[in-house]
Amino acid sequence: MNISGNTILITGGGAGIGRALAEVLHARGNQIIITGRREDVLKDVAAANPGMAWAALDVADPAAVAAFGEQVVRDHPTLNAVILNAGIMKPEDLKAQPFDFATVEATIATNLLGPIRLTAALLPHLQAQPAATIMTVTSGLAFIPLAATPTYNATKAAIHSWTESLRHQLRDTAVEVLELAPPAVATDLMPGHAENPNSMPLADYTAEVIGLIERGNTPRGEILVERVKPLRFAEANGYEAVFEMLNG
Ligand SMILES: NC(=O)c1ccc[n+]([C@@H]2O[C@H](COP(=O)([O-])OP(=O)(O)OC[C@H]3O[C@@H](n4cnc5c(N)ncnc54)[C@H](OP(=O)(O)O)[C@@H]3O)[C@@H](O)[C@H]2O)c1
Repeated sequence: MNISGNTILITGGGAGIGRALAEVLHARGNQIIITGRREDVLKDVAAANPGMAWAALDVADPAAVAAFGEQVVRDHPTLNAVILNAGIMKPEDLKAQPFDFATVEATIATNLLGPIRLTAALLPHLQAQPAATIMTVTSGLAFIPLAATPTYNATKAAIHSWTESLRHQLRDTAVEVLELAPPAVATDLMPGHAENPNSMPLADYTAEVIGLIERGNTPRGEILVERVKPLRFAEANGYEAVFEMLNG
């Protein structure tokens, strides 16, 4: 992916990692479109970054995703990249009675079905571009679970697997498929997460990610900062010890 000159749609671009990537990629000379559910947040980010576009979109709403997919390519015919970043992370007690399926269903709808549906809506347009990029956003927890957030980990593992299949199916096209797998990064993804000393500062994370993309340092299509490698490669380097470190 070239670091400038693209038209990039970023879901969940009003906050956290999505906002940070939106701002740095905007500054690098890309047309950015941010989406999310909170219009006030999107408007503020767009106002702070003149030229940035925004649109409200709940990625968990299938009809809204399909309609948005048609509208965004009419509004932005040069669209050639999407960062499928919107996501939620909630703790779940699997022993709770009665068990509450609301978190399970919302997490799957947002983190798993959302990116799959939006990709389906945009793929014909992206395939018609001279060069295009689809970037999924998984997690180090796709590779080893944080037991407190079971459905979250499961959706990220699923999107990792789905990304590999998408990349293979698109291997003879001009659509590049990248996977951004963050470590713990200081955002409001979970209460207390931004203040947690184990969370990587957002600006440091963003700078390292942009450097990796710029240098084309994305082996297997994965964008991995140093901090996530113990999780990404836990299977090869002592899974039990890493599991204990995360969950002990
Ligand atoms: N921070 C971490 O430690 C970390 C680690 C690994 C992976 N990640 C992944 O990075 C991505 C971004 O997370 P973050 O840390 O930046 O969290 P965040 O600050 O909570 O941002 C999440 C973004 O997703 C949007 N979003 C949530 N549900 C949505 C929905 N149904 N429709 C549309 N937008 C929705 C939110 O906007 P609205 O609320 O306005 O809709 C918000 O902009 C997520 O996929 C997350 O799983 C984060």
